[in-house]
Amino acid sequence: MIFASLLNADFGCLADEVAQLEQTGLISGLHIDVMDGHFVPNLAIGPQVVSALRDRTKLPMEVHLMVSEPSRILPMFADTGVQRAIVHAEACPHLHRDLAFARDHGLQTGVALNPATPIGVLEHVLDEIDEVLLMGVNPGFGGQGFIPPVFQKTSACRQAIDQRGSPAKINIDGGVKVENAARLLLAGAHWLVVGSALFTGNHIAQSTRRVAAAIGACV
Ligand code: DX5
Ligand code: ZN
Repeated sequence: MIFASLLNADFGCLADEVAQLEQTGLISGLHIDVMDGHFVPNLAIGPQVVSALRDRTKLPMEVHLMVSEPSRILPMFADTGVQRAIVHAEACPHLHRDLAFARDHGLQTGVALNPATPIGVLEHVLDEIDEVLLMGVNPGFGGQGFIPPVFQKTSACRQAIDQRGSPAKINIDGGVKVENAARLLLAGAHWLVVGSALFTGNHIAQSTRRVAAAIGACV
């Protein structure tokens, strides 16, 4: 249930660091952060990098599209071997159309919500998406502090999903650390995206095991 965000990896040896993550056997997938410098004030990973990683790892990959017009960007990733595309509700005035567009490209779908965006915006798409990505930080950068109201938001989202019988999984993205990971799962998250906490201390396997140990009791 741990997805590794690569935003804080050493891009000078990305394939090697992905291999270290994969060898732990504790990572469920790679969370690829894609940014356009407009929806968020940063740029990050493009389709060429994702294609290069596809040949180097067996881990499933999801792209987190922090971009203003996801349907313009999404086709660039369709043939890179990613399994799921996550768009931001805040960037999609025509959300049904954007989700259908992703499915037409053979992708599973997810919707991301910034911390202040209410879960009510999912009301009319909750039955058709595979993942709800609840941001624990305002997107754009790794290594930020978790915004506490997202704990309660996670519980409310889980209640809505269970009541609806939706297949969607709740993933928490941003500010997830050893100290708060278990609490987020107990609040109702199914999965966790972890970034900088995996790449601190110059020992990826050790950092990964620490995060996994912190949630071990919750599985
Ligand atoms: C932030 C990204 C997150 C981030 C997670 O905009 O979407 O995936 O890289 O990194 P940490 O775990 O360091 O907050
Ligand atoms: Zn992300």
